[in-house]
Amino acid sequence: MNHQTILVLDFGGQYNQLIARRVRECAVYCEVLPHKTPLAEIAAKKPIGIIFTGGPNSVYEAASPKVDPAIFSLGIPVLGICYGVQLMAYTLGGHVVSPDSREYGKTVTHFDTASPLFQGLPATGITWMSHTDYIDRLPEGFVSVAHTDACPTAAMQDLSRRLFGIQFHPEVLHTENGVAMLRNFLYRVCGAKGDWTMGGYAESTIASLREKIGDGKVLLGLSGGVDSSVAAALLSQAVGSQLTCIFVDHGLMRKNEGDEVEEAFRGRDLQFIRVDASQQFLQKLQGVRDPERKRKIIGEEFIRVFEAEAKKLGQVDFLAQGTIYPDVIESGAGEAATIKSHHNVGGLPDHVEFKEIIEPLRLLFKDETRALGRELGLPEYLVNRQPFPGPGLAVRIIGEITPEKVAILQEADWIFREEIQKAGLSNQVHQYFAVLTDLHSVGVMGDGRTYDYTLGLRGVTTTDFMTADWARIPYEVLDLVSRRIVNEVRGINRIVYDITSKPPATIEWE
Ligand code: XMP
Repeated sequence: MNHQTILVLDFGGQYNQLIARRVRECAVYCEVLPHKTPLAEIAAKKPIGIIFTGGPNSVYEAASPKVDPAIFSLGIPVLGICYGVQLMAYTLGGHVVSPDSREYGKTVTHFDTASPLFQGLPATGITWMSHTDYIDRLPEGFVSVAHTDACPTAAMQDLSRRLFGIQFHPEVLHTENGVAMLRNFLYRVCGAKGDWTMGGYAESTIASLREKIGDGKVLLGLSGGVDSSVAAALLSQAVGSQLTCIFVDHGLMRKNEGDEVEEAFRGRDLQFIRVDASQQFLQKLQGVRDPERKRKIIGEEFIRVFEAEAKKLGQVDFLAQGTIYPDVIESGAGEAATIKSHHNVGGLPDHVEFKEIIEPLRLLFKDETRALGRELGLPEYLVNRQPFPGPGLAVRIIGEITPEKVAILQEADWIFREEIQKAGLSNQVHQYFAVLTDLHSVGVMGDGRTYDYTLGLRGVTTTDFMTADWARIPYEVLDLVSRRIVNEVRGINRIVYDITSKPPATIEWE
């Protein structure tokens, strides 16, 4: 692929992936590399610019990450952010101090709009500060181009060497015009052309997949989730019927979901195999109540069914996976992370022979993966699908799993999701679903006593699913959902809404 590249050197800050995503949003390709990456490797990638991320350290700590000073003499523009700017100042002979009063959060900041970073933007604005140290003596050749009441150098630059640094975080939304500042760096300083688009990515990836695969056979496990669906669509366009997708339907999907996956892929140019293994899974899960046992059984069974089906195909050459960039970064910023350690349900099949793994989405963030899916003509319900646990409804049915309980939960969950969508909340509530508890309680319906299940509703807002807050779904919506479910789904007479965040709870109940 022939596109300009920005390198993001990772110093361990919490917003590092976000910086990379913002750069990509500006239509410029970028890669995240560990800060220890040797200079020769950095230079070999011929980046048009380098960004140092923030990090938790202070430059004077002995163990704090450092950088080879020669990086500033490559003639490549560098932008240091937070720890990145302190490191730049320190390495080039400036001085950093730890003041008594620390600046944290939203801060009024004044900019020199003659600086290429701030050109075309207001002279004063709010920025997001998250640091204790600041630069009190600039390195030679630098001038300060932004300040706050407490911090004389909120940004600095050396125009002749094209070195820049900012103390605040342009990548977070709390910083007004932060993305415009990054854009300025990319376009005004680094000479970016904006050559990273999903259309272009699809085209060049399809071409390179064709070349790599030749007339080989490719096997992909399709789960119905966004990543594997987009991988399937991409590979299908590249090699058509040389691709076989195996969709193991464990019968624990949400209502209609199995059929939706089938509908999306049936007509495409690929071999699509749907294995209805629901009986088999239910049988294995009979009497099992422990969440971890459930997960384990499903994971193992999944692999077994997949392998049995794959065997029928004979030798395959490539096993494709829908690994995306955050998986790669999380497992070590591109170091030795070829295989996703946590496959959706179980792991890699042991008994399928293949020569090589293909991961055509390895470079993409989640939102890019979705954009690519749209580009490839996948339906919106697949592209926008919420995360769904591999073990499916098994971990949303507390206690033993029976076909009756699966059916009850599917119906109730369907109503909840439908009402959230109708209320226009589906983009604000990032994950929402129903949980069937194992608790019976007494109710009254008409003139009769009922003794039915209690259903839990869960809605969360989150950016990364590592932490989450419970969603403030309006009472009117909850009320409507509650009335509809109790009226329309037999077997439920009480509904509760989960108001715990993660931590201390997790998003799923099991
Ligand atoms: P928890 O419950 O750990 O969930 O807060 C965090 C996110 O991960 C999803 N999840 C899973 N996804 N396989 C998956 O692919 C699994 O086994 C699994 N368990 C939980 C969950 O839906 C949430 O988005």
